[in-house]
Amino acid sequence: MGNSADLLISNGLVVTPDSVFAASVAIKDGKIIAVGSADAMPTAAETVDATGLHVLPGAIDVHVHFRDPGYPHKEDWASGTAAAAFGGVTTVFDMPNTIPPTGTPEILAAKHAIASSKAHVDYGLYGLLGEDTIEAVPALCAGGVIGFKCYMGNTFGKIPTPSTGAMLEAFEVVATTGKRISLHAETNSIMERRETRLRAAGRTDPLAHIASRPAVVAIEAVSRAAILAEWTGARIHILHISSADELRPLREAKARGVDLTGETCPHYLMLSSEDYARFAGVIRVNPPVREKRNQEPLWQALADGTIDLIATDHAPHAPGEKTRNDIWTVDCGFPGVELQMPLMLTAVNAGRLSICDYVRLSAASPARIWGLYPRKGVIQPGADADLTLVDLAREWTVDDAKLQSRSKISPWHGRAVKGLPMHTLVRGKFVMRERALVSDARGWGRSVHSIQQMPPPVVRNPDQTLQAVTSVPHRQGQAA
Ligand code: DOR
Ligand code: ZN
Repeated sequence: MGNSADLLISNGLVVTPDSVFAASVAIKDGKIIAVGSADAMPTAAETVDATGLHVLPGAIDVHVHFRDPGYPHKEDWASGTAAAAFGGVTTVFDMPNTIPPTGTPEILAAKHAIASSKAHVDYGLYGLLGEDTIEAVPALCAGGVIGFKCYMGNTFGKIPTPSTGAMLEAFEVVATTGKRISLHAETNSIMERRETRLRAAGRTDPLAHIASRPAVVAIEAVSRAAILAEWTGARIHILHISSADELRPLREAKARGVDLTGETCPHYLMLSSEDYARFAGVIRVNPPVREKRNQEPLWQALADGTIDLIATDHAPHAPGEKTRNDIWTVDCGFPGVELQMPLMLTAVNAGRLSICDYVRLSAASPARIWGLYPRKGVIQPGADADLTLVDLAREWTVDDAKLQSRSKISPWHGRAVKGLPMHTLVRGKFVMRERALVSDARGWGRSVHSIQQMPPPVVRNPDQTLQAVTSVPHRQGQAA
């Protein structure tokens, strides 16, 4: 084949959702051109010896908050994507609760400009779907969103919660685009009432946070969202599934044929209410980390496909914002994009899931769900060379001070993990190499919206939409 590849990753163990096999990977112009035995590979300008390493498709984290523009002391696109690169994450989807929120095409364009100038890894941008942004949906789609985010419950950034009426109209409109709506599925009115009562009763302790958001807020929100999705045909994704109790409405909706997907995060699988005494406000996150009895059903749901993928809800804050005594004044969330892979590989090492399951949950499924597969999320010829080379045997201890994220405070501090990303490549270029940032990778990241191919929209009850029932023929009918 002559001198045809730019880079050869040789002697590694390649992981797909179905198998692990010894193979070399040849890369040219940012794409994988061959996967196979060493003697079948083209010659290459550079060869990297991956002996002893597993070669994984880079993780796709569909839920990060990079805070840019708006909160540079918490994170920005450079620090957030550096954290991603260190975590073996090659594509991130950024949430719209920045300042200003990503709810107009102008604000979206400004965020694209910032991200493309600073990002080390590829990215998608969510558009805000709120009470007042429904009219902007076509322009946001034209401006390049990967999907929409709808806040059914209040959380950091105080984005107003749309009424169920606005949600129905929003779902009707987004259904026609084929894009997926990611939902913060916690019902605001329940939480607001409970928090008011808890504060009046003098509760300021960390566990009051769980008491203000019991699992019923998620059960109610998931069920309601699924009904609206079923009626309109809108595709939805349930973010950060935190409780065993949400799984029943999820399973029922999937069984009814609703195009609904779901994610959970490492903190719901590995932390519990027992950790609040030690971490206090540091563990405060929405939805809350819950009682330990929720963990096993969440693992089961990952195994049986009820939950489709792993994301992180990377939500960086400054130490002073996480250590206030009154729990109601503590900012919600903590960094995660950098630690998801080591934490989950630790679970792989412990036999909790297979490494094949892991690449399904971290890479292949998110790529499929957002129409990026097989360009992203898989190691095969024709795919982008988004690769993470991990040392599955490397044991280390999480040290918040050493995180790339600007947020140096998390409930993972001091945790023993086994499994570490050693190198991360995005479209064939090293962005992290031997645990060091490749500095000229800054600005290498590109928006993936341009390669997104969602299946054609499936619209239900089109004759019942607000658009349909308020159109001109109806007004004429009334006049007649
Ligand atoms: O705890 C959280 N923090 N949950 C969210 O939904 C938002 C996030 C943030 O932006 O800080
Ligand atoms: Zn979030």
